[in-house]
Amino acid sequence: MAKKLWDKNSTTNPEIERFTVGKDRELDLLLARYDILGSIAHSAMLQTIGMLTKEETEELHKELREIYSLAENGEFIIEEGVEDVHSQVELMLTRKLGDTGKKIHSGRSRNDQVLLDLKLFTRHELRLVCEAVKLLFDSLIAQSNRHKDVLMPGYTHLQVAMPSSFGLWFGAYAESLADDMLFLQAAYRMCNRNPLGSAAGYGSSFPLDRTLTTNLLAFDTMNYNVVYAQMGRGKCERNVAYALASVAGTLAKMAFDACMFNSQNFGFVKLPAECTTGSSIMPHKKNPDVFELLRAKCNRLQALPTDIILIMNNLPVGYFRDLQMIKEVFLPAFEELKDCLRMANYIIERIEVNEHILDDNRYDPMFSVEEVNRLAAEGMPFRDAYKKVGLEIEAGTFHANKNISHTHEGSIGNLCNEQITELMNSIYGSMDFSRIDTAEAHLLGR
Ligand code: ARG
Repeated sequence: MAKKLWDKNSTTNPEIERFTVGKDRELDLLLARYDILGSIAHSAMLQTIGMLTKEETEELHKELREIYSLAENGEFIIEEGVEDVHSQVELMLTRKLGDTGKKIHSGRSRNDQVLLDLKLFTRHELRLVCEAVKLLFDSLIAQSNRHKDVLMPGYTHLQVAMPSSFGLWFGAYAESLADDMLFLQAAYRMCNRNPLGSAAGYGSSFPLDRTLTTNLLAFDTMNYNVVYAQMGRGKCERNVAYALASVAGTLAKMAFDACMFNSQNFGFVKLPAECTTGSSIMPHKKNPDVFELLRAKCNRLQALPTDIILIMNNLPVGYFRDLQMIKEVFLPAFEELKDCLRMANYIIERIEVNEHILDDNRYDPMFSVEEVNRLAAEGMPFRDAYKKVGLEIEAGTFHANKNISHTHEGSIGNLCNEQITELMNSIYGSMDFSRIDTAEAHLLGR
């Protein structure tokens, strides 16, 4: 028989139960630790406003910390017939502590509870994403510096265009990640505001101390307006999804380049054999499947903001069960992106570059602008120099001078990798993750 927080006397039809619970029993497991941390903070606050005695609070904390350990060890389950993580925790507390367990929900609704769980979960996951982005960034900068003198063709329209280099190619994706980090930082800051105390979305007649729970949970501030706090459901996830999509966009593009440059027709990079997969029929094959899957996964991740928008589209103010569905697309996205970041980093660290690309004279025309510029610097009008070199190329008499000198900021000879690193570090370093560890250890009595 279903055990519901809201059961009075009538019972729910099992089909209605199945349909409304949806995937919550499985997905809410990801939220369990955060739900428990929230309950520890909430009950500590209830004590300060006289809703729980010191003894009751201590009993609750002891029990909640034990449930937290279960969740940490993967032993927390949501029982058959229990709707969600919030109901399961309250059920466990009530089984163990009787009336004390039944008191914990004073001044709270599952609406602000799930909002809180999502914020705490997202804050934690964003931190892991930022760490993984930073690791990949560092690998890209290292590769850029290592291969800064190795030239490769630059393309426009996928036609050989101008000299480029591996220093530029790796560094470009590093700088792209620095911009993505800015989105992650904004998402993190928007997420890091406390919704607890908004209850069903309109506050409570209990004199809740929201400043206390904000501090206990190490949020930057609270979501002040209780109506806005509830409106943040979906909005927070969507904005975080934009940040994840930005990172995914960088990875997908890089993966496409790597697949293309790895093809025999380019032969610019080589993936180590251990990073490739074979064919069941063609014995010679070493396919870049990792980058192909990374590209597909990251392209799909870029649909996440749209997936979320479509669920929350046209909802007016206040809670709706529609919002539950966002968890289905949002929660798994972090594992997917972190996996892609880890695989990208693994291969980027090991990718080999061809130092002899330009020995092939099919790339000689990419030095045409160098020659035009040399003539122009000597005094020939640019348009005349352009024409002279163009005619030489057509006549097959053009001689490429491969000793080039590009010195301006951000060019082949002056990559500005220190400045790019400084940019990344200033954004990454502005998020103080250690505050969270301290607060959580305090709540857990560790
Ligand atoms: N599983 C629900 C969700 O994710 C929890 C909140 C339920 N609130 C309600 N009013 N039915 O949205």
